[in-house]
Amino acid sequence: MWDKLKAYQAGVSQRRIADLFDDSRAAAFSVSVGDMLFDYSKTNIDSAARDMLIGLLDATGVAAKRDAMFAGVKINQTEGRAVLHTALRNLDGSPVYVDGVDVIPGVKATLDRMAGFAAEVREGRFRGQGGAITNVVNIGIGGSDLGPAMAVRALSPYHDGPRCHFVSNVDPADIAEVLAACDPATTLVIVASKTFTTIETMTNARTAKAWMGQTVTDPAAQFAALSTDPAKTGAFGIAPERVFGFEDWVGGRYSMWGPIGLSLMIAIGPDAFRAFLRGGQAMDDHFRAADWHENMPALLALVGLWHNQVCGYATRAVLPYDNRLGRLPAYLQQLEMESNGKRVSMDGADLPFNSGPVVWGEPGTNGQHAFYQLIHQGTRVIPCEFLIAARGHEDALHHQQQLLIANCLAQSEALMNGRSLAEATAIMAKKGLTGTELERQARHRVFPGNRPSVTLAYPVLDPFRLGQIIALYEHRVFVEGAVLGINSYDQWGVELGKELATALGPVVEGRESAAGKDGSTAQLVGFLRASGA
Ligand code: F6P
Repeated sequence: MWDKLKAYQAGVSQRRIADLFDDSRAAAFSVSVGDMLFDYSKTNIDSAARDMLIGLLDATGVAAKRDAMFAGVKINQTEGRAVLHTALRNLDGSPVYVDGVDVIPGVKATLDRMAGFAAEVREGRFRGQGGAITNVVNIGIGGSDLGPAMAVRALSPYHDGPRCHFVSNVDPADIAEVLAACDPATTLVIVASKTFTTIETMTNARTAKAWMGQTVTDPAAQFAALSTDPAKTGAFGIAPERVFGFEDWVGGRYSMWGPIGLSLMIAIGPDAFRAFLRGGQAMDDHFRAADWHENMPALLALVGLWHNQVCGYATRAVLPYDNRLGRLPAYLQQLEMESNGKRVSMDGADLPFNSGPVVWGEPGTNGQHAFYQLIHQGTRVIPCEFLIAARGHEDALHHQQQLLIANCLAQSEALMNGRSLAEATAIMAKKGLTGTELERQARHRVFPGNRPSVTLAYPVLDPFRLGQIIALYEHRVFVEGAVLGINSYDQWGVELGKELATALGPVVEGRESAAGKDGSTAQLVGFLRASGA
């Protein structure tokens, strides 16, 4: 299967993507969901390659695995858990069973409680000691931070609730700067932690409680918790009516659709939050029903597999030409790399191919004036994934949006077409250069081109479209993981560092010696302690 694909790719690798275009290619290698268009025609995938890639989906039983996920089967086998973030946006309420129990009534009840609390906060009925809430501080890390932080920024035109801040890093700079901007008497602190044990989050939560306690008589009354562990939230002192629970079948990096999205709901309101869920649900419906040839998440995944596992391109750049999606690359880094950065298959055998790629990116056009140099002329190929809206929210500045669009499209065009030596030579000759100097200067101005990219285009970034985009990427990760035969829903790779950090704490504090540590670690501890640690 993979060998056939690799042999095919080797046979076509020298052809020009631009030469694949006839009158029908753009439409034939694009797919729509509602008013969202995914164009993957600027890749070296042709019909034969696409058929072989779709063959991978069939050979690895992706449809059955997808249906199992939606049905609540415990597909996260290393943790014995179902994977049901899709149930959090199942607003139509068709039953989903885990261990024989329909989870949907509980999901709806929690969503209603969240909406009730969000409305109280937004309308000033839930008050701090000093009056209506003016600032919300979400303390969480990883999936308990990146989703809501990304979405609050993405949906800022819909933000009509209190200001929202996000504290994630245990670095004291993070919390100190946020708290300095807040009045403790009118601040709500949300402690977001699935496990309610994460050291960074619990440390920051205690710091916030102490800060609030300097001014407010009952600081815990201005705290809410989002967690799967009510015993621990209770032990922290947070009253059950402000605890919003969820189940272990929601993975951290997939959790923004439920209680972990509370800060987003407070920011944009319950109705807009429900529109976000509807967008996710619309993508779910599409993913479940559409034929693979028309299935946006599956095709996005197949493009990813083609570039990483078949062509051997080790990274992919996510480049939103939508400034409010500035945190999307960071969000996708966790979603994709924590999910598919594995080295063994579900049964524990070493993977015979590379797992997920390095995901990185920044908004365009800023990236153009920074790292695009390497994308265009560096020696390695970096597949690019562009996102672009037709309209911004700044009607009076529509001409700037048009300039943004022109820049986005120019990049994918430049990546594909490049600039030949003959073209570069002609340009430099026009400037008056001749002889060896002309030759030398022209060579620096050659763009090899033939560099693949895909573009996701949509009318405007609103809650519904953001929901579609996030669910699209979630299902892309699912499909890639299913084809590779890995467990996309555990994250054992983050554990070792946590254990070592816990063990190193007393050494850094000077309560234990660094004896037994490797020479480098012992030296660094010594240096930092001597320098004031
Ligand atoms: O360390 C990784 C991780 O477990 C992520 O998977 C998770 O999103 C994050 O930490 C935060 O975990 P929690 O929500 O339990 O605090």
